[in-house]
Amino acid sequence: MSVCVIGAGYVGLATAAVLADLGHRVVCADTDANRIDSLNGGQCPIHEPDLPRMLRRNVKAQRLSFTTDTPAALRSSEIVFIAVGTPLDANGSADLSHLRAAALDIARALNGHKLIVNKSTIPATGRPGPAGQIPPHVGRGCDRNELGWLGWLPLVWHGRLS
Ligand SMILES: NC(=O)c1ccc[n+]([C@@H]2O[C@H](COP(=O)([O-])OP(=O)(O)OC[C@H]3O[C@@H](n4cnc5c(N)ncnc54)[C@H](O)[C@@H]3O)[C@@H](O)[C@H]2O)c1
Repeated sequence: MSVCVIGAGYVGLATAAVLADLGHRVVCADTDANRIDSLNGGQCPIHEPDLPRMLRRNVKAQRLSFTTDTPAALRSSEIVFIAVGTPLDANGSADLSHLRAAALDIARALNGHKLIVNKSTIPATGRPGPAGQIPPHVGRGCDRNELGWLGWLPLVWHGRLS
């Protein structure tokens, strides 16, 4: 499968490396150009045993690449993992701005069926999708037939937009 992982942090990089190791073609996209340059230069920006070796192995095998061009990465992928940060603000609420930005990127780049898996931590609102943000964005202006299955982890919402 072709996979896009949005966010090259602890969760995104580990997810991308494991999926590439399983044989999938993975593009990991991040807005932090320094981080992407570092990854493309063969450096691993986080400490995780065995991760640097996994990254090198899969980059060499051309199963794994890194980019700041999120729209291009999204358009070339069938499955999208969202792994952007949702840090707590001063009031203890999750800052969902990165998640909303990623959702908009997905909506704008939607060019066919996608399975979207959210790994970012989100508040349990009872509404579908990360705080109810992504489905309205994803659905806007799209042919209904383009909407695929959506899955959300670790808080699960799995279904079909209709
Ligand atoms: N599902 C799980 O098993 C699990 C486990 C631990 C943490 N989490 C959650 O996963 C999320 C990511 O955690 P982390 O530790 O990897 O965070 P992190 O801060 O290490 O990495 C987040 C990355 O996302 C990038 N980013 C931010 N906005 C972006 C955007 N719009 N497009 C592309 N990239 C963007 C940042 O530049 C950063 O590199 C958090 O919400 C965390 O709570 C989930």
